[in-house]
Amino acid sequence: MHTRIAKISIDAEALQHNLLRVKTFAPNSKVIAVIKANAYGHDVQTVANALAEADAFALATPNEAICLRQSGVTKPLMVLQGFSSIEELKALADLDIQVVVHQQSQIDLLEQCPDVKLDLWLKIDTGMHRLGMSVEMAESAHQRLQACESVNYIRLMSHFANADDPAHPMNQAQLSAFSQMCDRFGQGDASMANSAALVAMPESHMQWVRPGIMLYGSSPLKDKTADELDLKSVMQFESKLLAVQSLKQGDVIGYGSTWRCPEDMKVGIVAAGYADGYPRHASSGTPVWINKALCPLLGRVSMDSICVDLRAVKADIDERVVLWGKELSVDVVAEHADTISYELLCHAGASLG
Ligand SMILES: Cc1ncc(COP(=O)(O)O)c(C=O)c1O
Repeated sequence: MHTRIAKISIDAEALQHNLLRVKTFAPNSKVIAVIKANAYGHDVQTVANALAEADAFALATPNEAICLRQSGVTKPLMVLQGFSSIEELKALADLDIQVVVHQQSQIDLLEQCPDVKLDLWLKIDTGMHRLGMSVEMAESAHQRLQACESVNYIRLMSHFANADDPAHPMNQAQLSAFSQMCDRFGQGDASMANSAALVAMPESHMQWVRPGIMLYGSSPLKDKTADELDLKSVMQFESKLLAVQSLKQGDVIGYGSTWRCPEDMKVGIVAAGYADGYPRHASSGTPVWINKALCPLLGRVSMDSICVDLRAVKADIDERVVLWGKELSVDVVAEHADTISYELLCHAGASLG
């Protein structure tokens, strides 16, 4: 039940447009659309339906993938975190869900289950140092997996740590380490590129690309806007003006009284706060779209409301307000809140979805 005034809506056509952009950047690769964390807050079911032209979907956890499969999605699914018990392994294999194998204990479990059969991705850690087998361990892991009766087919994957900064020297080092592994295993079925690498490092595309954030219309690169990459915003986060205050020069605004009116002025109170997923750390000056104008946020973000400067716009109670979406990129809000669009999208989706 929706109990909040603020609301989000999802534009399926924008998702499809962004998938076409992925295919334009990487025309020779298959696309694994990353739809973990409830599709970055966009509602996994809506997104899976809209992205019928993707080749596969990646989820983070076994349960995410199992729920999606049980909802009727028949496309290849992969679990990025893999499995951690025999029960999980069997449940995933039963539903024909691919798993990522990133540590030896998972190979032990596979060896204990000769009766299951599944495709997997061997994840190699080329420098991110999050999940993955070290380059040194990868060869023996690969041999064990090849000998394992429960393994149908092995693909290889790795993940960039700095792809959003294309000039970062680690990108080429990681790519070269991974390419060497693929050559060593004679493996022509591999994946490394997230959105940023997909856009900025065509040499990393391989057979499968794994875009997440660009599908949702946010720029994966620090120095390029979503508009410049022709990506369309998918989540529309809107609310309305609850009240308009006529304040006097010197009046202070919000908790902590951190903002002082430099003159007599109108201030709008918007029905959206951190309980709705609007970032508590958005600083004064963060733009909010009202009636074709970008109005600066004033003072601290409250639980259910924010205050905005109405000096540049004519707006009254009930006026439509866009926190982010078509009129204002989530990337701009993220920058003002000292965070990344991923976090804002996930939080708003979890709060209002
Ligand atoms: C293993 C893996 N691949 C691909 C992605 C997609 O990354 P992005 O959303 O930056 O495109 C993620 C997201 O965090 C990931 O963890």
